[in-house]
Amino acid sequence: MVSKSAKKKPNSKRSSFKPASQMASPKHFDLRRFLILISIILPVSLFVVLGVSSSTSFKISSDHHSVKIYDFEVVNEFPHDPSAFTQGLLYAGNESLFESTGLYGRSSVRKVALRTGKVEILHKMPGSYFGEGLTFVGERLFQVTWLTQIGFTYNGTNLQKLDQFTHQMKDGWGLATDGKILYGSDGTSTLYDIDPQTLKATRKQIIKFNGREVRYLNELEYINGEIWANVWQTDCIARISPDNGRMLGWILLPSLRQGLVASGYNGIDVLNGIAWDSDNNRIFVTGKLWPKLYEIKIHPARKHLNDEDIEQLCVP
Ligand SMILES: *[C@@H]1O[C@H](CO)[C@@H](O)[C@H](O)[C@H]1NC(C)=O
Ligand SMILES: *[C@@H]1O[C@H](CO)[C@@H](O)[C@H](O)[C@H]1NC(C)=O
Repeated sequence: MVSKSAKKKPNSKRSSFKPASQMASPKHFDLRRFLILISIILPVSLFVVLGVSSSTSFKISSDHHSVKIYDFEVVNEFPHDPSAFTQGLLYAGNESLFESTGLYGRSSVRKVALRTGKVEILHKMPGSYFGEGLTFVGERLFQVTWLTQIGFTYNGTNLQKLDQFTHQMKDGWGLATDGKILYGSDGTSTLYDIDPQTLKATRKQIIKFNGREVRYLNELEYINGEIWANVWQTDCIARISPDNGRMLGWILLPSLRQGLVASGYNGIDVLNGIAWDSDNNRIFVTGKLWPKLYEIKIHPARKHLNDEDIEQLCVP
């Protein structure tokens, strides 16, 4: 629509000047008239040219460049408990992480030393709960659990259980926070805003890429005004604007899992777990039952990938 109407403009302008240009024939050449004519044509044609080119670049940016694709490099790798079925991860300050793990009978909330992977504080959950997303607001850890609407809060100092709550998501998958709002995922394409006081969902946004819903939103992290989400069963992290639910980018990490499998770690599960050290701008990622946790740096991908390639990799 935009380019069509922009194309019409030059034609109609040109045709309205036809009589004038015919008058400027060599036979009746009039310099004054010619200069007046030029002074009108030049700004008009400049306006038309600029209008067309700006509408063209707008179209390109909305179709192809607004969702950016990122590659990464590993800048550090650390040991990670290979029996931890990682479902929630966040940086706890002082070179340590909070982690929530899943599986019945093996679910826990733990504080882990970053450099050694050593579990420093462990809270074991009852065998009937499968731990999921975890985040920290106002001195309390908030955790959700799989296939229930029940969540728990814990003391961030000693990981002792404080309270139990119910939430309004369909299931408990991921949690993150900007310090005021809890952001939640439930395995669908919906990103929830949740009030940490009332635990009520205050907003729901459906996340889409190229017109398709991005389902299986899993572990979440709030990073510099964005929500980063693992997409279950993919090696992709979605970068989402929490303000309007728009996809901002994709980070492609297939080589991490492939590298572990190639090194003989055949029992590992999917990429899951993103943590952000805002003081030092460090990004950490790991996976379920992964023996390693990686600090990564990301950069725009060098290789061009079209929307269909991305859908195949990242939108199951
Ligand atoms: C930081 O962690 C170390 C051990 O990992 C601990 O000995 C120290 O007390 C911690 N410091 C603070 C300020 O929590
Ligand atoms: C957490 O536990 C510490 C003692 O380990 C206590 O001082 C603090 O008040 C507790 N915080 C909450 C929110 O219960």
